[in-house]
Amino acid sequence: MDTLLSETAIAKRVAELGQTITDVYRGRPLTVLGVLNGSVVLVADLIRAIDIPHQIGFIRASSYRGETTVPGELTINIDLMPMIAGRDVLLVDDIFDTGRTMVRLRDELNRQNPASLRTAVLLWKQGRSEVEITPDYHGFQIPDVFVVGYGLDYNDDYRHLPQIAVLEPADLQGLPQNDC
Ligand code: IMP
Ligand code: MG
Repeated sequence: MDTLLSETAIAKRVAELGQTITDVYRGRPLTVLGVLNGSVVLVADLIRAIDIPHQIGFIRASSYRGETTVPGELTINIDLMPMIAGRDVLLVDDIFDTGRTMVRLRDELNRQNPASLRTAVLLWKQGRSEVEITPDYHGFQIPDVFVVGYGLDYNDDYRHLPQIAVLEPADLQGLPQNDC
């Protein structure tokens, strides 16, 4: 497994994102809303880099991915979600790939009448988008390779790695069914 982004590089960039978000949302009722499971590591680090009062919450998204994936096939579970009506919501996910997860989540969250809704991801995979939107904040643009670590999984493994690593094609077998 090759390291694409080191623990140090990620920490530096997340600190920068936290500073940006601090400046943008100062004086606003911010809720950082993470997408389970992939965003947990980023959320844990990012909220400690946001130097203004804010609330956190989580939403769960599960998708079936692989050669036979029907585009848009995604299950969203909002049971854990806090009240976001009237609040400024920053939706945080691990990676923006086709963008379909973000589009579906945005539609779902907008129904709860937040004061504003923006998106932040650690990684933005280039050349893969199938949607009109782009993430409002991103850590790194990466090439079209399959990565794991810092919350990102392959078949729910590797999320604990402190760095972002590229999984070799030989390591990829079967079609993952996972929580995003
Ligand atoms: P999208 O809906 O295609 O943007 O997919 C977003 C979700 O796909 C992410 O939250 C991840 O769970 C998963 N995903 C996409 N690319 C990768 C990758 O390179 N490694 C691990 N998970 C990925
Ligand atoms: Mg996943």
